Amino acid sequence: MSIRTFRNCKGGEPLGLVTAYDYITARIAQRAGVPLVLVGDSLSTTALGHATTLPATMDMMIHHAEAVRRGAPECLVVGDMPFLSYSTVPDALANAGRFLREAGCDAVKIEGGRNRADTIRALVAEGIPVQAHIGLQPQSVKSTGYAVRGRTPEDADALARDLEAVAAAGAFSVVLEGVVADVAARLSASTDIPTIGVGAGSGCDAQYLVLADLLGLGEGRVPKFAKAYANLADEAVRAIEAYRADVAARAFPDPDHSY
Ligand code: KIV
Repeated sequence: MSIRTFRNCKGGEPLGLVTAYDYITARIAQRAGVPLVLVGDSLSTTALGHATTLPATMDMMIHHAEAVRRGAPECLVVGDMPFLSYSTVPDALANAGRFLREAGCDAVKIEGGRNRADTIRALVAEGIPVQAHIGLQPQSVKSTGYAVRGRTPEDADALARDLEAVAAAGAFSVVLEGVVADVAARLSASTDIPTIGVGAGSGCDAQYLVLADLLGLGEGRVPKFAKAYANLADEAVRAIEAYRADVAARAFPDPDHSY
């Protein structure tokens, strides 16, 4: 899939997309037919154990994006611009360029609406595809918290203006995070670019789910909007316990696993 063909998912059968942060999970996502993988700055919370996404840096994101690219050569790979990496247009160009040049990503994602329209326009003008991200913006947690968006008509209007601004600036798609479901569905119907929901109901053109949540690797800490389709954490604990018991009993390594 290319950025151009991704745009064709608008109005069609919704696509299930995931985040990944390493080679192993990117390979699994590709095998499962996921067309687009996000190297999200949720890396910071999900894989590195921080309380927020703010500690993610460009160097960390590039390191992980390179691994995802190697694991999923056939997927579209989107690099998530971390906190303070796009505060000015020159910073945004330099850092987005690193995602494409060093990590081999196909596009970048940035949080923000009307306030980021100029940045999106500048990136797109340089040939860097941009996925916008409006609604709940985790990088602004210190000023806004994690409040769900679109609960009042005024806030729904503000989201509509953000969406219009990022689409006009040339974003090829937009994430709607933490948005009341019927507002998200209306926003989705009002724009030509694909919308990707996360905590925004089923009315979007695609969905993101953090792979650790989907696979049940989060040790029971799955947020309300996420769903675990497996319980791999418990399965992994069982496997490691079985291995430890075999080692203690000298049943592993057995002759079949020895030279
Ligand atoms: O970092 C992330 O994983 C994200 C998605 C939830 C959209 O931004």
